[in-house]
Amino acid sequence: MHNDKILLTVNGKEVECSNGSKKLIAFLRDDLRLTSVKEGCGEGVCGTCMVLVDGKATRACVPAISKMHGKSIVTVEGLSDREKEVYAYSFAAAGAVQCGYCIPGMVISAKGLLDANQSPNRDEIKKAIRGNICRCTGYVKIIDAILRAAEFFREGTAIPQPEFTGKLGEDFFRVDAEEKTLGTGLFTDDMTVDGMVYAKALRSKYPRARVLSIDTEEAAGHPDCIRIITAEDVPGDIKCGHIVKDWDALIAAGGVTRYVGDALALAVTGSHESLDEVLSLIKVSYEELVPLTSPVQSLADGAPKLHENGNIMNSQFIKRGDADAAIAAAKHVVIKHYSTPFIDHAFMEPECAIAVPDSEDGITLYTGGQSVYDEQHEISGLLGIPIEKIRVRTMLVGGGFGGKEDMIVQHHAALAAWLTKKPVKVKFSRAESLKVHPKRHAMEIDFTTACDENGLITAVKAEIISDTGAYASLGGPVLQRACTHAAGPYNFQNVDIVGRAVYTNNPPGGAFRGFGVTQSAFCMESNLNLLAEMVGISPWEIRYRNAIRPGQVLPNGQIADASTAMAECLLAVRDVYEKAPYAGIASCFKNAGRGVGLPDTGRCVISIENGKIHVRSSAACIGQGMLTVLTQMVCETLGVAPGVVVAELPDTSRTPDSGTTTASRQTVVSGEAACIAARELKPELDERLAGGKTTDEALRALEGREYYGEFCPPTDPMGSDKPFPVSHVAYSYAAQVAEIDEQGRVIKVTAAYDVGTVVNPKAAQGQLEGGIVMGVGYGLTEEFPVAGGYPTAKFGTLGLLRAADAPEIETVFVSSGERLPAAHGSKGMGELSTIPTAPAIQGAYYKLDGIFRQKLPMDNTYYRRS
Ligand code: FES
Ligand code: FES
Repeated sequence: MHNDKILLTVNGKEVECSNGSKKLIAFLRDDLRLTSVKEGCGEGVCGTCMVLVDGKATRACVPAISKMHGKSIVTVEGLSDREKEVYAYSFAAAGAVQCGYCIPGMVISAKGLLDANQSPNRDEIKKAIRGNICRCTGYVKIIDAILRAAEFFREGTAIPQPEFTGKLGEDFFRVDAEEKTLGTGLFTDDMTVDGMVYAKALRSKYPRARVLSIDTEEAAGHPDCIRIITAEDVPGDIKCGHIVKDWDALIAAGGVTRYVGDALALAVTGSHESLDEVLSLIKVSYEELVPLTSPVQSLADGAPKLHENGNIMNSQFIKRGDADAAIAAAKHVVIKHYSTPFIDHAFMEPECAIAVPDSEDGITLYTGGQSVYDEQHEISGLLGIPIEKIRVRTMLVGGGFGGKEDMIVQHHAALAAWLTKKPVKVKFSRAESLKVHPKRHAMEIDFTTACDENGLITAVKAEIISDTGAYASLGGPVLQRACTHAAGPYNFQNVDIVGRAVYTNNPPGGAFRGFGVTQSAFCMESNLNLLAEMVGISPWEIRYRNAIRPGQVLPNGQIADASTAMAECLLAVRDVYEKAPYAGIASCFKNAGRGVGLPDTGRCVISIENGKIHVRSSAACIGQGMLTVLTQMVCETLGVAPGVVVAELPDTSRTPDSGTTTASRQTVVSGEAACIAARELKPELDERLAGGKTTDEALRALEGREYYGEFCPPTDPMGSDKPFPVSHVAYSYAAQVAEIDEQGRVIKVTAAYDVGTVVNPKAAQGQLEGGIVMGVGYGLTEEFPVAGGYPTAKFGTLGLLRAADAPEIETVFVSSGERLPAAHGSKGMGELSTIPTAPAIQGAYYKLDGIFRQKLPMDNTYYRRS
């Protein structure tokens, strides 16, 4: 060390740093712009920041740069060309890349291992990546990728150059796999803009308090402060919310806070290092009020109203037949109460947005959200400027799972940019992310299930109380899906389900993979096991006897279409279930599309530009592989190779509104829109090909032409008086078997899925594996505890599973032999995999120890004692 300068080698080059207290990650990312080093948590937990320090995999967010003097650091950017080729190919070929945010860190841990051992087994790989969390993949394919890379290094073989047709059913490599593996793809926080400044919100000290005053004078006088923004500065409508506009962008002096994530003021500063110091100078005086921390408190007589319209945010009533009479006449009845917790999405990329003012009094927003058009509308309202003045572009999204649907950072970035006329970045720390964004709804559910002497279900009656927290977010539709799917994928007609979503002073509940069905399916599937016991048949048998078949009527009144393969799913897992000593089984179904009469339009423009087929849709890719799906839909329809197809990221100036990435809808609605646009192009392309032109020549001849596709499947609204309303355009089905050992460890999950035509088997499998591991966590380890309105979890205590905890997973796709007309018969699958896992594990534990667990995460297990 000379003159307090720290000298180190990074990727083979000598560099120096004079600020010894700076974290290594900040030096690498901010000073050296090495963006493969991702900041997933900043707490030493997730491993997205993994680098090699003198050959040892090390989390760069932990050590200060002062500890790095004389050391040699390697990031993914510093790998040799051969290593880059091997890892990029291996991760793509294994289908190991989804959102991609964890992948560079995984590559570094892999390199740390393979540099020392080129013949590792799966357990050694699990050990090597024990410091890396992946929320998307379930680790199976990441381990496959590392095994594959080891083989290349060991054998010295050349990297294959596969030729793909891009057609459905082919394991075509994800279009973004390489850039995500090597860290060259840009997530929002990887961007910098000239003149960029930073903003951060001051959050409420209390879950419920009257804000008496906000004194910003001293903060505004800080030398690095550019501006302090409060509610009075908001030019437009201060209320946000895609469906219910009840969420204040900033709480004004005189207003009452509703949770500890409420923003009171925004500090805008020249450097991000000074944000906390400036915020600490804002003086807020509060009158603390007693928070309502459960729906019971909020529904009590005399409870204060948290919102103008009262504390019941949404109610749902699903009634068909006569459940009371059927229950009274039933041979067997099970009545149980269930409790499910808040949990966090824990997507690996914390929220970040950059807003850039333009010369024409508009704003361009770079974001990692789930719908550019929702964001555009919200910001237009907040700033009080026309929609067309706002352009929203999605960068790569490091996971979402529903948790990036709301306005969390985007509106604050836009507001700060609008008021300061400077480019502004708002980036959450992991702690802010946990505090602010909506969670999976905690629910309390009373559930009654009845059957006859043969185990045929005769009725379901349920009351579902959902804690929707401080704001509505997607709480209405989530409750609705919890209710519409509560009775499961079975053939009976007496249902009586009442749901209420109740405001409290807890963090908001919002969209989360499974969308309410995760909660109500846990109840239905658990009750079924007890009914089977009463009847004297196996849990598999009761499901098989009742499984919905084509032409039969679901409990919500919809006639199951010809593609329905619920019974085939069960048949595919029967032997595994019956042979395992301690196994549980669960079935589920999940809608594709918003349905219930709501607008549900997928749109796509295909344009021929520079001799390529540009596929333009605003369907966000949050890790599920939307760009790859669109590419394969177009290749299938046109018969062209994927090399001539360019699927674009969402951008309101380029891609038509295809709605939100939610409700497992995009493969069906945007996929079909892409097919329609491709069918418009097809005759013109075919004509030129028939004339003897090559594909390149034919496309050059069509340069500049555009083709449009739009698909909006008609559905019937809730409460429709049709005898058999079509609630959703499609349903996918699944059956899962969870096996545990004598200690209660989940050792294997076997799952069968009916998702219609499988677009890309490896990618689909990877998504299902990730969903299953998330489901294992939901059942056994994950929780987001909130005490008195204050969340108490840190990222490291959420209960996320690591590679060594993940069970063996076997998945199989089944089909009825029939397919739906849209999107070449694909039905969507993003949420399906997570739903049945927790009840399947509950059943396995019941078999093991006879304790019937009614609360998630389950207690008294291998994973949790209490
Ligand atoms: S960012 Fe370093 S471990 Fe998560
Ligand atoms: S691919 Fe691992 S976190 Fe998304």
